[in-house]
Amino acid sequence: MQNYENIFSELAEKIKNLIADSKTMENIIEIKNKYLSKKGEFSLLMGKIKEAEDKKAFGEAFNNAKNKIEEVLNEKVKEFEAKKLEAQLKKEEIDITLPGNNIKRGSENPFYKVRKEIEDIFISMGYTVATGPEVDYDKYVFELLNIPKDHPARDMQDTLYIEDDLLLRSHTSSIQAHVMEEANGKPIKIICPGKTYRRDDDDMTHSHQFAQVEGLVIDKNINLGNLKATLELFAQKMFSKDSKVRFRSSFFPFTEPSVEVDISCFNCHGKGCNVCKGTGWIEILGAGMVHPNVLRMSGYDPEVYSGFAFGIGIERVAMLRYGVDDIRRFYQSDIRFIEEFNKKVED
Ligand code: DAH
Repeated sequence: MQNYENIFSELAEKIKNLIADSKTMENIIEIKNKYLSKKGEFSLLMGKIKEAEDKKAFGEAFNNAKNKIEEVLNEKVKEFEAKKLEAQLKKEEIDITLPGNNIKRGSENPFYKVRKEIEDIFISMGYTVATGPEVDYDKYVFELLNIPKDHPARDMQDTLYIEDDLLLRSHTSSIQAHVMEEANGKPIKIICPGKTYRRDDDDMTHSHQFAQVEGLVIDKNINLGNLKATLELFAQKMFSKDSKVRFRSSFFPFTEPSVEVDISCFNCHGKGCNVCKGTGWIEILGAGMVHPNVLRMSGYDPEVYSGFAFGIGIERVAMLRYGVDDIRRFYQSDIRFIEEFNKKVED
C-alpha cells in the first residue's frame, strides 16, 4: 500500500506551528479560513486524490492529517476560552467583606395605620366600607341630615364653600345621606372613612383638614343599647381589653337622642392621669339614634326602621393611641416622626 502522508505533512506542520504561535482567537479564525475552510490551502490538497492510485489510502491519510490539525486547533481554542473565563471571573470578583448598601425601608404614616385598624375592627363586626365625594352638595352635607339652610346648627361647622350650593364636606355624615338614598329603604350597616374640611385655625388639636370615620346602622329594632355595645367593643379592640363606654347627652341635628361618648382611660384604667386630665374618662366621639326626620327624608318609615350613627375623629384616636401631642405631625411627612412611631410598634 502506498504511503501518502508525506503529501500532507509539510503543510500540516506549518499549520500546527501557526496555531501554537497564535495569540488570539482572531488568529485561530484566520488560520481556519486560510487553510481549513472549503477552499483553504489544506483542504485543496484533497484535490490530488485524482492522481492517487489508492484513493482509499489517500483519503484516510488526508483525514488523519486534517483531524490532527483540528485537535491541536481545538486545544488552542479551549485554552483561549479558559483564559477568557478566568479574566471575566477576575473582573466580576466581589469582595463579600465590603459593607452592603443600606436600603432604607419606608414606613406607613401612623394616621393610615389607625384608619386601617378602625376599618378592620368594624369589618370584623360585619360592616362594609362606603365612600363618598369630598366636594359635595349642600343637600347631602346638611339638608338631608336635618340641617336646613339658615339653621343655627350650621354654626357648629365652619364650612368652606366652593359655590352657593357646593362645598368641601365638613363631616363624613354626608356619606350617610348618599348611602341612604341609594339603599332604597333597605337595611344599612356601613362605616365611611374620609377626609373632612372646616375653616379652622390650625393649632395642636385643630386642622382645617382632618379625617373621620362615620358609622351608620339602619334596620328594624335598632336601639341605643346596640350602639353602646358596638362602641364598647370598638374601644376594647382599639384601646384596652377592659375599656368601658359612658354616654353623656348632647346635641346633633341628625340624631335624637344624641350622645357624647367617653371611654374609660386606657392609661390609668380610671384612676386619673394626665391622659384623661385626672377624670378617668376620655371623650372620643359623637353618636346617637338616627333622627326620624333623617330617616323620613331618605325614604325610611321611622315607625318601622330605626338606626344609630356615630362619627369618630381618626387623628384624635391616633393621638390618644400613640401619645401624639400635635395633630399637625400627621401631615408634615417628617420622617423622624414616622420612624419614631415605627419603633414603637416593633418594640
Ligand atoms: N358629624 C359630626 C361632626 O362632625 C360627628 C357625628 C356626631 C356624627 C354624631 C354622627 C353622629 O353620625 O351621630 O361633628
